[in-house]
Formats: sequence, C-alpha cells, structure tokens
Amino acid sequence: MIETVSDLSRLREIVAGWKREGLRVALVPTMGNLHAGHFSLVMLARQYADRVISSVFVNPTQFGPHEDFARYPRTPEADMRGLEDAGCDVLWLPSVDTMYPLGTELAMRMHAPGISDVLEGACRPGHFDGVCTVVARLFNQAQPDVAAFGKKDYQQLAVIRQMVADLGFPIEILGGSIVREADGLAMSSRNQYLSAEDRPRSPEIRQTLLAMRDGHVGGAGRAEIEAEAARRLQAAGFAVDYAVLRQPDLTEPGADSQGARVALIAARLGNTRLIDNLEF
Ligand code: PAF
Repeated sequence: MIETVSDLSRLREIVAGWKREGLRVALVPTMGNLHAGHFSLVMLARQYADRVISSVFVNPTQFGPHEDFARYPRTPEADMRGLEDAGCDVLWLPSVDTMYPLGTELAMRMHAPGISDVLEGACRPGHFDGVCTVVARLFNQAQPDVAAFGKKDYQQLAVIRQMVADLGFPIEILGGSIVREADGLAMSSRNQYLSAEDRPRSPEIRQTLLAMRDGHVGGAGRAEIEAEAARRLQAAGFAVDYAVLRQPDLTEPGADSQGARVALIAARLGNTRLIDNLEF
C-alpha cells in the first residue's frame, strides 16, 4: 500500500528507517498528471532499488512568466492510484512552502552553465535553473541512492547528470526510454493540450526525427538535414523552435566527426509545445 507524505520530517523518518535496514532507495521526480512514461520510470527504478519514492510537485521556478504553470494538469487521485499499481512505496507531495521555505523569490538557485543555455535553455530562459533548483532540493529531502528521469527530456537528463557530477551527489542517475503512443507521439502531460485538429499531425515530429537519422546514415550533411527537418515540420503546420543534430553531449559535431548522434526537435502546434529526440 502506497503512503502519501507531505511532511518532510515524516519523509526523513521513513527513509532513515529504510537505510537502517540497508535498503536502497530510488526517487522518481515528477510534476504529476502521470502517464505510462512515468510509470515505466517507477518500474525501472524498482530494478535498481528496494524502495521507490515518487514526488509530485508542479515546480513554479521552472516555468517562464508566460508558460502554463497555472493550467498545468493536476490529477492527484489518479496519480496516486497509478503509482501504487506501478510499485511505488511513497508518494512525496510537498507544498510550495515545504519546497521553498523562504518563498520562491528568496530561494537559493542553481545554474549549470553552458549546457543550460542552449536549445531548451535558449527557448526557455531560466528553465533549467528551476529544474536544478528543485531536483537538488528533492535529492536533499529524499536522500535517494538512485534517481530516474525520462529520456524524452534529453537535455534535462544531461543537465541533471552534470549537476550530480559537479556537486558530487552520491546518486546513480538512470535514463528511462521514451514511451510513445501507438502512432509515435512521445507521451507527455502536455499532449492533452493538442486540439482535435492538431493531434493527428503531431506524429510528424517522430517521422521527422527518423528522416533526420536516415539522412545522416545516408551521408547527408548536418546543415542539409536540419534545414530539411525544419521545412518538413513547417509544411505540416508546426512552428519550429529547433530541429538539430548534435553529439550526445549536445555540442555541435565538427564537419568530419564520426560517432553517435542525437536528433532533437522542439516545435509548436497551436499553443502546444512538443519536444522529442532520437539517439543513433
Ligand atoms: O521532468 C519533470 O517532470 C520535471 O522537470 C522534474 C524533473 C520533475 C523537476 O520538476
């Protein structure tokens, strides 16, 4: 039976008890409105730990002033039931005051230079500062041995890995595979914002990522691949924030460089912003 905890001293008591028993603890941070992608992270975490905590906290510091913080979907009852079915032991449900005791204005902030400033960071200034700020607090609260994040947020995972390495958090970071709808759309809480007219167009992001991979494998140059991806998305009705080919650490590959690549897309259909990526 899952236990819902909103009091930090109770969370610490539970975790201390587990640690006394020598159990490994995993954390799966989320913002709620959970779907199969989140539940797959809980199941992944379970393979690396004896106990799993999942946090649900819609973090105000990672939303820009004109973003969807107020309307971000909140479904606490369904989240709790789904987490229990996925094998989660504790649902950590902190209030804003528990997370930010001094208030969000005075809260100590984190910043990962470089990697935070490109792609998503360039489109959403301050976003990764808010993510790192809350994830560092969640790590401090839950004291996990392992934490799992989805690969759909590829850059977020890279930023968190950098923060963990730089600050020396003794936490193993797991990246969970992207979970997709049958037509290829990556699962996201924001998919429900898509209008009935836009929803059938949305798998074009996945198709474009596959075409970028095929272009690369077929020997096309990066500039050509990126331009063709943007053209294809615009033709399907998207406003494109970026459609790029990068090295796994998100740096730009040199002209003759070989090796692994990741294609990343952020594009908007109406008021809905979608992101996705493909590693190859
Ligand atoms: O990926 C998310 O849902 C959020 O960015 C996270 C990691 C839970 C931090 O608020």
